[in-house]
Amino acid sequence: MHKKLLTSHQIKPIRIGALTLENPVILAPMSGVTDLPFRRLVKKFGAGMVVSEMIASQAMIRECRKTMQMATRAPDEGLMAVQIAGCEPDVMGEAAKLNEDRGADIIDINFGCPVRKVVNGHAGSALMRDEIHAARILEATVKAVKVPVTLKMRLGWNHENKNAPRLAKIAEECGIQMVTVHGRTRCQMYEGQADWSALRAVRDAMKLPLIVNGDICDMNDAEQALEESGADGIMIGRGAYGRPWLLQQAIDYLRNGVTTASPTLDRQYTTLLEHFDAMLTHYGSHAGLRIARKHIGWYSKGLTRSSEFRAAVNATDDAEKARELIHHFYASLPEQVA
Ligand SMILES: Cc1cc2nc3c(=O)[nH]c(=O)nc-3n(C[C@H](O)[C@H](O)[C@H](O)COP(=O)(O)O)c2cc1C
Repeated sequence: MHKKLLTSHQIKPIRIGALTLENPVILAPMSGVTDLPFRRLVKKFGAGMVVSEMIASQAMIRECRKTMQMATRAPDEGLMAVQIAGCEPDVMGEAAKLNEDRGADIIDINFGCPVRKVVNGHAGSALMRDEIHAARILEATVKAVKVPVTLKMRLGWNHENKNAPRLAKIAEECGIQMVTVHGRTRCQMYEGQADWSALRAVRDAMKLPLIVNGDICDMNDAEQALEESGADGIMIGRGAYGRPWLLQQAIDYLRNGVTTASPTLDRQYTTLLEHFDAMLTHYGSHAGLRIARKHIGWYSKGLTRSSEFRAAVNATDDAEKARELIHHFYASLPEQVA
């Protein structure tokens, strides 16, 4: 354990309506990744809040089975936001209400998704190009529920149109209670580096709690992102791939100035097994194994002979065999050097 000098970039609890986010270190919504098994695990390690995969509001109100599964919460995942996307104010309101009734603590609205299918349907980051319509969606959603509604967006559509500060102000006026900004434009997709300092203009435009997101993968990133953006908290996505403990490490660092070591390989093994079993239970063994493969790849990345291990896991359709492969792989690793 290593203790650093405390800086001014410490995190403090955030109030969102009647809720208190004790540690504003949030797991980012990621389709295909932040399902219930992963959210529970990240929460168990100590995340301040977790967010569901993006839920299409139309599918939600049609009560599609897969969509309902994505929006289902567990009692032990702590503060949990369901993220909804769509472009029809009434439908967004209805979807928000359904999720409130199903136990969501917070409704998060997606104005950030850059994917063509979503944008062509005038949802996700496409809404950043139409501030009047965006306001209608925000108002309708806030009006439909009692729980707090938050907003996640990008810096803007492209370099010439970085209107996140204006939209954040609009969001505040519409009753939104927290804003998260991914420091890229829609046209950047995932290219280049997230621009944390660009959030300063958002900070200055409104008084709501502000969360900085994009490319936060270690303690230095966490500290620098807060310092450059002036945000109140951080949101971590891809950095938590295969490292559900990362958010707790970030909390320890930002709260107490303590760098906690990553878990031993033994603990990593038991964490992966717990995650693997949870995926099999949640999806059934066939779909569970298919979804588990990418997580197994992330946990084992960089470990000795991990590519052979991944190839073997990818080659089997038998969950029990995959379990054995996981066991043998971790058992064969040399002890971790602290
Ligand atoms: C596989 C994947 C799926 C994602 N799905 C969503 C989503 O459903 N909703 C959303 O708002 N953002 C989504 N994002 C964006 C992330 O929430 C986050 O803004 C982005 O990855 C940048 O943060 P990071 O560098 O910490 O990953 C997704 C990103 C990835 C990589």
